[in-house]
Amino acid sequence: MHPYSVLVVGMGKRGMHHAAAFNANPRFRVTGICDIDAARLEAAAAKLGGPQTGTDAAALAKALKPDVFCFCTLPHLRTPFIRAAVEGGAKLIAFEKPVALTSAELFTIRHLIKQAGAKAVVSHQHRYGKHYQKVKEIVASGALGRVHTVYGTATGWMTHMLSHLIDYSSWFNDYAPGVWAMAQAAGGTKFADNHPSPDYLAGFVQFANGVRGIYECGAGAPDQPEVGKWWGKNRIGAQGTDGFAELLTNGGWRAVTRSGGAQSGEGAMNYDADMPPYIQEMADWLDDDQKVHTCNLEHAALGAEIMLALQRSAAEGGQVALPLTSAADEQALLKAKLSDKPVLVSCEQNRKEFGLR
Ligand SMILES: NC(=O)c1ccc[n+]([C@@H]2O[C@H](COP(=O)([O-])OP(=O)(O)OC[C@H]3O[C@@H](n4cnc5c(N)ncnc54)[C@H](O)[C@@H]3O)[C@@H](O)[C@H]2O)c1
Repeated sequence: MHPYSVLVVGMGKRGMHHAAAFNANPRFRVTGICDIDAARLEAAAAKLGGPQTGTDAAALAKALKPDVFCFCTLPHLRTPFIRAAVEGGAKLIAFEKPVALTSAELFTIRHLIKQAGAKAVVSHQHRYGKHYQKVKEIVASGALGRVHTVYGTATGWMTHMLSHLIDYSSWFNDYAPGVWAMAQAAGGTKFADNHPSPDYLAGFVQFANGVRGIYECGAGAPDQPEVGKWWGKNRIGAQGTDGFAELLTNGGWRAVTRSGGAQSGEGAMNYDADMPPYIQEMADWLDDDQKVHTCNLEHAALGAEIMLALQRSAAEGGQVALPLTSAADEQALLKAKLSDKPVLVSCEQNRKEFGLR
């Protein structure tokens, strides 16, 4: 079969992961790459077998008409690349988390993709880790009894990490949609970051199947002393009437269940291992409409709405009903309404990572 052609935009860390993984899969061929940094573009082209290069993604998409338009730029750039993908006639659009920084942008993106009839996937690829898979398997086996709670905590800040926490815990909960969300936020030093975020956000979600979601992201989130790597201190899991199962992104999995006792195993987030199955599922979905990618936009957008509802609640108070019915700029709302009191940290390493005294 002829390989699917791919244009990759943004040749930073994640763009290179994507381009290398596409080229390593015989079902794909990277025919174009794009970056506004000419030196980076040239270095990437040499490593990727000399695809066509350009600094204007929309022009390159029009010229190459790729089957797959993949972009891995920073979170503030979404809509222009979705437009470029659609105008270039892409069958599948692959992009990085978070889906969008604001509900206004989420609504635009969803509308553009739906109108074009394109498939879309969002890179929540940690799920392919064996420890993530094991927790999912235990939850799905029924060994936890009636699942009543799913949760996720990360010391890394919101725009980096919350999308992952919500997506994997929603996966454990079979992607039941959220009904409402409520949260608080503190500290504004990370609004200046390229992943703009409050320093700490913590909140609750009611899911349609009655399950409670509990999330914490940032400087006030607890340390996981079992894990050395700071970005890997994420604890994501599920609790039921008969036990719990959870993973640490860089610290394996553990479970205690009524029938199985205490169990544990290894696992650490690894891009080299997680990218191939993520890419393969794109080929499977392009080949067969029934084989929908597990990281499809519909799932990711459920999580994005929850993430944005939590922010809206933190800015405006009270519970926020889901699905969201009006568009807003949650970044602006948070910046305007957050108190200027500094965040209180939960451990010394968080103080350092947030550049606090
Ligand atoms: N899924 C994951 O595990 C994971 C891990 C890390 C980062 N991310 C996400 O990946 C995305 C990219 O992160 P990164 O670490 O690769 O960033 P990066 O800064 O390394 O790369 C971004 C690249 O985009 C380029 N760029 C900027 N504007 C552009 C434009 N208009 N046209 C073309 N290129 C442009 C930059 O020059 C840069 O090379 C972010 O959304 C981030 O949240 C995901």
